[in-house]
Amino acid sequence: MKALVIFESVYGNTEKVARAIGAGLTAAGEVQVVSAAEARPEQLTDLDLLVVGSPTQTFGPIAGTKEFLKTLPIHALKGLKVAAFDTRVPVAEVNSKVLTFMAGAFGYAAEKIAKGLKARGGVEVVAPAGFFVVDKEGPLKDGELEHAAAWAREIVKGL
Ligand SMILES: Cc1cc2nc3c(=O)[nH]c(=O)nc-3n(C[C@H](O)[C@H](O)[C@H](O)COP(=O)(O)O)c2cc1C
Repeated sequence: MKALVIFESVYGNTEKVARAIGAGLTAAGEVQVVSAAEARPEQLTDLDLLVVGSPTQTFGPIAGTKEFLKTLPIHALKGLKVAAFDTRVPVAEVNSKVLTFMAGAFGYAAEKIAKGLKARGGVEVVAPAGFFVVDKEGPLKDGELEHAAAWAREIVKGL
């Protein structure tokens, strides 16, 4: 099994989650973890699994992740197993009715990344996952790296 985990991270939290997922996936084979800026189209060949993650900003993925998805040809991921994740703030704890309403209405990055991956032929192996940061710059909430490892185990089961 050959897997590629592509991430973006402004403050470092999504990178930590990406690396924890990558470490969990090594149980199933060879794994590379790279930033969206470093990812090369040729890394998608001979691949069994592609995992993509981004921080949620303004209810979606950040620019580099959107760009990465946009530049993929429409059948680029045909039949490839895919999974998507994001990091996000726990809006329910922010105590803002407006933000809670908007997050409910407009969502998070992971679902949008998953949609983009599936639109290019990817086959989702696990439901998109969100990992919580305490505040905009982090740190990750307690237990989220363990959550990432558990999510990686779910992916391995789906392979
Ligand atoms: C400009 C901006 C917009 C954001 N918008 C959202 C949002 O819509 N929903 C959310 O849950 N978190 C939002 N956040 C918090 C980010 O999700 C958080 O900064 C990110 O998870 C941290 O990951 P990173 O360290 O990898 O950058 C926003 C943060 C910034 C800076």
